[in-house]
Amino acid sequence: MSQPFPPARFAGYEAAPNIALVKYWGMRDDRLVLPRNSSLSMTVSRLRTRTWVRFDPSLRSDRFSLNGRPAGGGPLQGAVDFLDVVREEAGVSMFAEIRSHNNFPTASGLASSASGFAALAGAASLAAGLRWSPREMSRLARRGSGSASRSIFGGFVEWQAGRRPDGRDCFARPLFRADHWPELRDIVVLIADAPEKRVRSARAMQETVRTSPAYSERQRTVAGRLAALRTALRTRSADRFLALIMEECDDFRRVCETTVPSLDYLTPSSRAVLAAVLDLNRRAGHPVAGYTHDAGAHVHVFTFQKYVPRVRSRLRRIPGVSATRVLSPGPAARVIGVRSRSA
Ligand code: ADP
Ligand code: DP6
Repeated sequence: MSQPFPPARFAGYEAAPNIALVKYWGMRDDRLVLPRNSSLSMTVSRLRTRTWVRFDPSLRSDRFSLNGRPAGGGPLQGAVDFLDVVREEAGVSMFAEIRSHNNFPTASGLASSASGFAALAGAASLAAGLRWSPREMSRLARRGSGSASRSIFGGFVEWQAGRRPDGRDCFARPLFRADHWPELRDIVVLIADAPEKRVRSARAMQETVRTSPAYSERQRTVAGRLAALRTALRTRSADRFLALIMEECDDFRRVCETTVPSLDYLTPSSRAVLAAVLDLNRRAGHPVAGYTHDAGAHVHVFTFQKYVPRVRSRLRRIPGVSATRVLSPGPAARVIGVRSRSA
C-alpha cells in the first residue's frame, strides 16, 4: 500500500495534447482500453492542460473543477472512474479533489481528453504516492483516454497495441525527440462553427468497428502505413511524410463516413481546408503541405517553416476559419509542483 505523499497536498502535472498521424480507432477491450492497432502521434507545443490533485481523508466525495467550474455528467464520471483505477493501484481509499485547466477549447476535437488524462494520470499517481516510470504512467493514462497514453511523451510517439489480454504490453513509447525535425510545423486551423462533440471517440469508434464495411480493409493496411511513416520520419522525407499523413487521414475519414449512422466530423469549412491543401500542392508542383484531423472539425495542416507564410495566408482566407495557430513538436508531460494550495 502506498502512502499519499505529502498527505492532503496538491500534486501538479502538465501535459500537452497530441495529434494522431496514424489513428487509433477501434478497441479490442473497452474496459482496459486496448486498441486494435498501434498508432503514431506528435505531441504539440503551446497547448496544454495543468492539473492539480490531492487525496484528503476529510473529503466525502470526489470533486472535479474543470476550467474554473465544477464538472458534472460525463466529465465528472470519467474522472471518478479514473481515480478508482489510481486508488486500486495505490491501495488508497480517500476521495480526491481535482482542479484542471485547459488553455485551449475543451471537447472540440483538439484532444483535450489526451492532455487531460495524461495530466490527471501524472498528478493523481504522484498525489497517491505512486513513484511510477513514464511507461507505467502511459499505461495508466490509457485507462482514462486511449490517446492520453501518447501524451506522456514529447515529440513523436508510438502507442503499441500489444497482444496480451491484461494490457501489460500496451503503452506508448517515444520514437523521436521534439527537436528531431526542426523545420516541421503544424498549423492548427480552427473552424468557427465547430460543434462541441456529443459522443466521445471511445464510443464512436465502437460503432465503426461494428458497422463500417471499410473497417476490415483499414485493419489490413494500417500497420504498413505506420511502418512507412516511421521511416519517413526517421529519414525526414518531406514528400513521403505529407503524402502518408493525408492517405491515413482519408482512410480514417472513410471508415467514419461509412459507419452506420454515419460519423461526419467535418464542416464545409473543414472540407475547404482539405481542398486548399491539395490545391496548394498542385500549384507548387510538389508537396508543400499535408492535412490531418481527428474526430472534430478543426484541421491540422503540416508544413515546413519556409512555407508557413504562404500556406497560412491561403488558409486564413477560407470562410469559416476563425484562427490559425502554428505549433511545433512539443514537450513530454512533467511535474509542475507539490503545494498546500493549487495554482
Ligand atoms: P477532445 O477532442 O477535446 O479530446 P473528447 O470529447 O474526445 O474531445 O474528450 C473531451 C472529454 O475529455 C471531456 O468531456 C472530459 O471528459 C475529458 N477532459 C477534457 N479535459 C480534461 C481535463 N483537463 N481533465 C480531465 N478530463 C478532461
Ligand atoms: C480520432 O482516445 O481520444 O483522435 O477518450 O473518448 O476522447 P476519448 O477517445 P480518444 O480517441 C482518439 C481518436 C482519434 C485518433 C487518435 O488520437 O489516435
